[in-house]
Amino acid sequence: MLRSLILGTGHAVPARVVTNADLAAQMDTSDEWIRSRTGIEQRRWIEPGERGVELGKRAALQALAMAGLEANDLDAILYATCTPDQFLPGNGVYLQRELGIAATIPAIDIRMQCAGFIYALSIADAYIRTGAFRRVLVVGQEIQSTRMDVSTDGRNTAVIFADGAGAVILGDSAEAERGILAFDLHGDGNHAEKLWVEGPGSLVRPDAWPAELAEGRYWLKMDGREVFRHAVVRMPESVRTALSRAGEAASGIKLLIAHQANLRISEAVQKELGLADAQSYNNIQRFGNTTAATIPIALDECARLGRLQTGDLVVLTAFGSGFVWGTCVLKW
Ligand SMILES: CC(C)(COP(=O)(O)OP(=O)(O)OC[C@H]1O[C@@H](n2cnc3c(N)ncnc32)[C@H](O)[C@@H]1OP(=O)(O)O)[C@@H](O)C(=O)NCCC(=O)NCCS
Repeated sequence: MLRSLILGTGHAVPARVVTNADLAAQMDTSDEWIRSRTGIEQRRWIEPGERGVELGKRAALQALAMAGLEANDLDAILYATCTPDQFLPGNGVYLQRELGIAATIPAIDIRMQCAGFIYALSIADAYIRTGAFRRVLVVGQEIQSTRMDVSTDGRNTAVIFADGAGAVILGDSAEAERGILAFDLHGDGNHAEKLWVEGPGSLVRPDAWPAELAEGRYWLKMDGREVFRHAVVRMPESVRTALSRAGEAASGIKLLIAHQANLRISEAVQKELGLADAQSYNNIQRFGNTTAATIPIALDECARLGRLQTGDLVVLTAFGSGFVWGTCVLKW
């Protein structure tokens, strides 16, 4: 039976560091408020004009190098982002071009917000298991900084969201003991407006966009309490379902990487699953919430820090705008 195995990981963030003090200088907030409510100490935001695809490319090249592969060895690209550099085409084809891939391989954009990486991984895994593709690049990348209101009106999102990219190379393997074991995926559109960007979109002609923008309709908006309430229930629930599909128990988890939405959420998920601090990894303190990029960035850091040994049970879980959520269980 074919399984998919993570062969390489990589990540890239913009050089510009934005501290809580930097934000406090432009809106009514404080380092103390941000740290105590979210755990975030600093985040990375692009400089004007920096492209998201460039971050995706840097992450992809690192993942390819770790896997010992060239870009031309890839059979497909899955690019998870809800913040593409422009409306169309998606970031996937730009990455294909930037990587200099000679073949006309499929480059697919996945728009599932904070659960984007888990969803993209599930699709790549299905392609690999069915034998459609052997080597798939999966990228999670976002630029949130350019769509947030950085005045006091937008402070409940501006202090949380950030920019970055992470990537993995998924490859086929005949090893029975390792690789991706199970997924659990969900969506519930009843909560769509609780974390959303209303526009600009195809509902409104571009000549009316300035008026909509002036009304503040195009900034990222969030009902933080509702998101929090659902996230702390849905992620542990989903982890349990995926673990049971994989025939594994929470006590066997070597590493839990929960989507880096908020440190309080990650800690609540860890506690609910009965895990010790050593079984869970968080880096939101340094990077903020980079939406689809948080999990592959954290996974790459863990891989490079030596926190993952062959055969370790690893659980990745995410929750975000939609609401959409899901979990991946794998053996490293
Ligand atoms: C955003 C979040 C930190 C806010 O914390 P909270 O305790 O729920 O706070 P509330 O939204 O109820 O706001 C409490 C007060 O803090 C204020 N506040 C909001 N953001 C603030 C900021 N950055 N600095 C200072 N005060 C802030 C609010 O205006 C409110 O003031 P009021 O009581 O005078 O009206 C929290 O709801 C949260 O983490 N939610 C989940 C967010 C998340 O993970 N999103 C990503 C999902 S993918």
